[in-house]
Amino acid sequence: MTLLNDLTGAPPGMTGRSLLLRLSTLGAVVAGTAGGFAYAGGWLSPGLLTPARIVDRFEAVNGPHPGFRRNHAKGLCVAGRFAANGAGARLSKAALFAPGQVTPVLGRVALAGGQPYAADAETTVRSLALLFRQSDGEEWRTGMNNIPVFPVRTPEAFAAQLLAAKPDPATGKPDPARMAAFFADHPESARAAALIKARIVTGGFADSTFWSLNAFRFVAANGSVRPVRWAFVPERMATAETPARAGQADRNALFDTFAAQVRQNPQRWHLVVTLGRVEDPTADATQPWPPDREGVDVGTLSLTEVTPEAPHTCRDINFDPLVLPDGIAPSDDPLLSARSAAYAQSFTRRAGEAKAPSAVTGAPNPGAAL
Ligand code: HEM
Repeated sequence: MTLLNDLTGAPPGMTGRSLLLRLSTLGAVVAGTAGGFAYAGGWLSPGLLTPARIVDRFEAVNGPHPGFRRNHAKGLCVAGRFAANGAGARLSKAALFAPGQVTPVLGRVALAGGQPYAADAETTVRSLALLFRQSDGEEWRTGMNNIPVFPVRTPEAFAAQLLAAKPDPATGKPDPARMAAFFADHPESARAAALIKARIVTGGFADSTFWSLNAFRFVAANGSVRPVRWAFVPERMATAETPARAGQADRNALFDTFAAQVRQNPQRWHLVVTLGRVEDPTADATQPWPPDREGVDVGTLSLTEVTPEAPHTCRDINFDPLVLPDGIAPSDDPLLSARSAAYAQSFTRRAGEAKAPSAVTGAPNPGAAL
C-alpha cells in the first residue's frame, strides 16, 4: 500500500488512471465542500446577510455578554403543562391536540433585547417561549411576543432595523433621523410600528397575550391544510400599567411579580388558533389578519413553576420555531428560516462560553407586587 493509497483510502490494487480519477473526484468534493462553507460563511459575498452576520450585529449593538442569548437575553425558566380540549384535533393531527391529552411543557419568559442586566420596563417587548414534549416523542417549540404584529417583514429589514435603533451614546436613545430613514425605506415597518405603539401594555407577564406573529400551516388527519397564526391569551384579567409600578425601584419588578404569581397559583393561558383564509398574507408578519377570522380555543396552558436559568434548564434550549410536530408545518414566511438559522448561531456561540449568573432567579422577593 502506497502513501497515496493511505491518504485517499484507495484499495491497495488501485493505481494509475482509476486512482487519478478518484483523486480528481475527491478534489472536486473537497473544493465543493469548502465552497459550501465559504458560501455559508459569506466570504464569497461580503454584502450578503448570513446567520453569523446577523448575530454579529446583535453583538455590535449590545456589546459582549458571553453565555447569554444574543436577543431576549434577560429571562427566567418556566414549566407546566398543556391540556387539550379536543377542538384542535379537527385542525391538526399533532398529538398534543388530541381530546384529553395533557402534554408537559418547558419554557422561558423573557424581555426582548440583548442586554441581560437591563432594568425591567413595561414597554419592553415581553416573550414566552415554549417546548411541548408530546407522548410520541415529537416536540413543538414556539417563541412568541406580546405585540400584535412584528416590526419587520424580512431578515434584511431586521438587520437594518437593529442598526437604525442602536442607542446613540449621547442620548441613550435611537437617533430619530436614522429611524426616520429606516421607516422611509420600509413603509410596512412604519405601519407595523404604529400598530405596536397603539397596543394596550398590560401590567406584567401573567396578563400578557403572546402572539406567534409568523404564520404556519395546520395539517389535519384528513389531509386538509390551512394557514394559521396563534396566540396564548391569559385567563388573568389584564391590569394596565400604573405610574406607581412603573416608577418602582426593583430592576427586576416584572420577573419578581411573575414568579410570585406563579408560586401563589398556576398561571393560565388559552391557546387560540386563528384560521386564515387563502387571501390572508402568510409571508408578511407586519400585517395583521382581518379581525373577523375564526379563532378556535384548543386548550389551556398552565405554568406552575419558575426556575433560574441553570445547566439543563431552559438555558440550554434553542426555541427554534421550525421544530414542529407532524401536523404543524412552516408557512412561506421568510422570517421563519432566518430565525431558525440565527437562533442556531446564537445557541452555538453561547453554549461554548462561560456564562455569568442571570439577573433574575425567581427566588421570593418580599418587595414584589402581586
Ligand atoms: C429575522 C428575524 C429574527 C431574528 C434574526 C431573531 C433573532 C433572535 C435571536 C438571535 C434570539 C436568541 C436565540 C437563542 O440564543 O436561543 C432570539 C430569541 C427570541 N426571538 Fe427572535 N428573531 C427574529 C424574529 C422573531 C420573531 C418574528 C419572533 C416572533 C414572536 C421572535 C421571537 C423570539 C423569542 C420569543 C425569543 C426568545 C426565545 C427564548 O426565550 O429562548 N423572533 N431571536
